[in-house]
Amino acid sequence: MSTQSTKTILRLQLLTDPRWVNIAEKNIEDILVDHAYCEQKAATSAISLIVKYPDKTRLVEEMTDLVAEEWSHFERVLAELKKRGWGLGRNRPDEYVVELAKHIRKGGKRERQLMDHLLVNALIEARSCERFKLLWKNIQDEDLQKFYYELMVSEAGHYVSFVKLAKEYMPVEEVDARLKELLEIEADIIRNLEPRPDRMH
Ligand SMILES: [Fe+2]
Ligand SMILES: [Fe+2]
Repeated sequence: MSTQSTKTILRLQLLTDPRWVNIAEKNIEDILVDHAYCEQKAATSAISLIVKYPDKTRLVEEMTDLVAEEWSHFERVLAELKKRGWGLGRNRPDEYVVELAKHIRKGGKRERQLMDHLLVNALIEARSCERFKLLWKNIQDEDLQKFYYELMVSEAGHYVSFVKLAKEYMPVEEVDARLKELLEIEADIIRNLEPRPDRMH
């Protein structure tokens, strides 16, 4: 995936400061621990969507598959930690996700709330994918290069699936308009967050 394709496929408005990867590489234990929790949160979020919208059959089916996939990612990150003699450290607050989740509008039509939730999840997938790409391209550890490449591909697929799913439940034009707004919001959040050496986001 070239820089241009990161922008066109994922539509991210602001690319990560490339210096992030240099500092991240020096803190790989922290990055792996934070990454493990990102996978756990992705699985948890898919479960909460199932519980909240049991009547949406397609959503329930797709989220069920997603839980399994995100959980397998969690297991893989745990294995990478173990290989290096590290354990799963403590969970740390994810300011990026907290800020983004504030834009899931409360009230109004149930489907509108679902659309916001799906699009916020799509953006988290897109940003994670962009970060995995940076790690894949720049990190020295060959094992981890392969690992991040595979995750980059997987999370790009999740981004596409979340946007498609939103269009299943809300009119396409409305989803596109909301995605455009959220892309701007996401870029602002990234702009205002200090790039952290110990976080995926
Ligand atoms: Fe994942
Ligand atoms: Fe994902």
